[in-house]
Amino acid sequence: MMHTSAKAALGAYTNLAAECKVLPEDSEYIEIRRKIMGDIILKTNELTKKYDNKIVVDSLHLEIEKGEIFGLLGPNGAGKSTTMNMICSIVKPSAGSIELFGKKIHKQKKEMVKKIGYIPQELAIHGNLKAWENVELFTSLYGLKGNQLKKAVEEALRYVGLWDKKDVFSKKFSGGMKRRLNIACAIGHNPELLIFDEPTVGIDPQSRNFILEKIKESNKNGATVVYTSHYMEEVEAICSRIAIMDNGKVIAIGSSSQLKKMVTDKEDITLEEVFLTLTGKKLRDYGGL
Ligand SMILES: Nc1ncnc2c1ncn2[C@@H]1O[C@H](COP(=O)(O)OP(=O)(O)OP(=O)(O)O)[C@@H](O)[C@H]1O
Ligand SMILES: [Mg+2]
Repeated sequence: MMHTSAKAALGAYTNLAAECKVLPEDSEYIEIRRKIMGDIILKTNELTKKYDNKIVVDSLHLEIEKGEIFGLLGPNGAGKSTTMNMICSIVKPSAGSIELFGKKIHKQKKEMVKKIGYIPQELAIHGNLKAWENVELFTSLYGLKGNQLKKAVEEALRYVGLWDKKDVFSKKFSGGMKRRLNIACAIGHNPELLIFDEPTVGIDPQSRNFILEKIKESNKNGATVVYTSHYMEEVEAICSRIAIMDNGKVIAIGSSSQLKKMVTDKEDITLEEVFLTLTGKKLRDYGGL
């Protein structure tokens, strides 16, 4: 949470935000943010990923504060999932480093990753396993056993409203139920940092609303959240700070109202208009090129 002693620095930051069309990630900006932020739970330094000599994540600097819900927006192919995958140690960075919970990730990597709950963009569940078997499989990977594991599986399934469907094979689930089960698989070990990569794709408003409420509940209970979505209204509704990424770089960062002020003085601009102003209207068909 923000330190009250840093309120003066917030003024300077707000002025800086108002002056800049796009907030630069320069040393002045980083210095000011550092003063107003609380504990940094996740930090990337010059984080870079190259595939076949194409840079898809480009010297990324991100600092995420304990207790926030941080939104990550960006067109298709911007590098959002690759960034999340590097943070969770699924993809190896080409250069740069990641600090989690105040320590460089290469030290005690296993222990650190245990504190993360990663909800991947692609469903990770197995259709031929029952709901509880899916959650047990993933939760056991974090070292939970016996009664502790049983309890964790029940809690996770209750959390996403699927406890009464625990014995159903997940291939029989609707899209919304599969998305909720995907979340249950990632939260059984009670992580401190939750990373959601487009958790509400292709599901009805009821399921979306349920998931958003659960994310807010987890945050109130102490979890820090990183949230990626293409649904601007979701991001605006739940995120305290938002970064817009394009071509592997963060091109703007701030609260929703700060982002709006960066592009116009108009009061009624939507976050989607801000996004299109900053990233342009060109289609991003980079995949496989
Ligand atoms: N394993 C891979 N091999 C080669 N290129 C890859 C690989 N994974 C991702 N890319 C490329 O890296 C770029 C960034 O992809 P990424 O999935 O991180 O984007 P994204 O911002 O998550 O996009 P989306 O909104 O479509 O999910 C894309 O150009 C993609 O084609
Ligand atoms: Mg993605």
